[in-house]
Amino acid sequence: MKILVIGSGGREHALVWKLKQSPRVSEIFCAPGNGGIAGLASCVDIKADDVPGLLKFAKDNKIGLTVVGPEIPLVAGVVDTFEKHGLKIFGPSKAAARLEGSKVFAKDFMVKYHVPTAKYLSFDTLEAAVAGLNEFTLPVVVKADGLAAGKGVIICVTKAEAKLALSEIMIQKVFKDAGAKVVIEEFLVGEEASILAVADGKDFVILESSQDHKRIFDDDKGPNTGGMGAYSPAPVVTPALMKKIALQVIKPVIDGMKKEGAPFKGILYAGIMVTKQGPKVLEFNTRFGDPETQAVLPRLKSDLLEVMLASVEGGLRKMKLQWEKRPCVCVVMAAGGYPGDYATGKVITGFEKVSSEAVVFHAGTRQDGDFIVTSGGRVLGVTALGQDIKDAIKNVYADVGKISFDGVQYRQDIGKKALDRR
Ligand code: AMP
Ligand code: GLY
Repeated sequence: MKILVIGSGGREHALVWKLKQSPRVSEIFCAPGNGGIAGLASCVDIKADDVPGLLKFAKDNKIGLTVVGPEIPLVAGVVDTFEKHGLKIFGPSKAAARLEGSKVFAKDFMVKYHVPTAKYLSFDTLEAAVAGLNEFTLPVVVKADGLAAGKGVIICVTKAEAKLALSEIMIQKVFKDAGAKVVIEEFLVGEEASILAVADGKDFVILESSQDHKRIFDDDKGPNTGGMGAYSPAPVVTPALMKKIALQVIKPVIDGMKKEGAPFKGILYAGIMVTKQGPKVLEFNTRFGDPETQAVLPRLKSDLLEVMLASVEGGLRKMKLQWEKRPCVCVVMAAGGYPGDYATGKVITGFEKVSSEAVVFHAGTRQDGDFIVTSGGRVLGVTALGQDIKDAIKNVYADVGKISFDGVQYRQDIGKKALDRR
């Protein structure tokens, strides 16, 4: 079967890498791909949000399954378009992707179906939103309703900060139409975990837990990023807690979306805060997490293609996933200055020194003559397994130390929370 993967980050490199191991996969294309993906798949120069271009490519090349990495094409309705043309595609419909595309929709849905989440109010005028701040104690969380590339969530310690955030979102329109509505939300305290489930509209299977590291600096300091590293499993998610999440979060969402006439297929990603009162949903994504995918997929022993086909065709009820027991850690190597301005075009060296057990997933790279050079903020995700979490951390950092490029920065403490729990 020929596969088309849509996207160009570390997550897509991991998806291509894992799909390539399936005996049923004959050829993989990636649109647009990156310098690392090019070693495993044919990269085609079509942007991830160019739905007509992707459709034409899939038809012309007799693609058997298209796999969508990022959220933008999902929210734009790429799945609906492909299905209308009789093409198989892994991911949720436009209506189901509202769980990620609109925070107001997601919050209202959670209340309706009794999914535990932070208390909130939503607003569509600045005046009402500012008045609404009085209903919350500080700190308070302000969220733009729509997609904002991970930047639309602002934690405000003072009321003045909250007013400024509301005005930037609703009046200055820093996130454009994504800020037409806002959610104001209670600040939750606890440890975060990422839970990914794959669903077929009716049934679901939960993948092993993982944990992201969102802040740029060690000990969760500095501004938020797309994710500076991840590990799997996350010991904060005990077997008992995982059962609770399945029953109180994932099942009501899958059942509820079916009732709403928008059955959920593809990946449901629940960002969970483990609070003293139990798990609460911070957000939903309707796709694989980045960099969680890079830490989870190396532990999946089952054939990812079979899992994806079961999601598309409806057959997950009978599916049981096999997992590697050893933990996995992924450390993101980023460009100096990220998540602010950063340079690109820096030559990356040392790939050949990396041990054969590690995998280097490329996020922001491109081929430039004989060299691989940086082309994004998050550049690489170095990934390794270990006998235990301590061993996995040791292995991954040994290989991170072999790779270099001008200005490189990475966190030294990926996996530390898991280590501290032992
Ligand atoms: P989101 O994009 O909704 O996941 O938000 C990004 C990050 O903001 C989350 O991973 C949390 O670290 C933080 N966050 C979001 N909502 C809350 C909340 N209600 N309380 C505390 N932190 C939050
Ligand atoms: N790792 C966070 C995300 O994928 O949104």
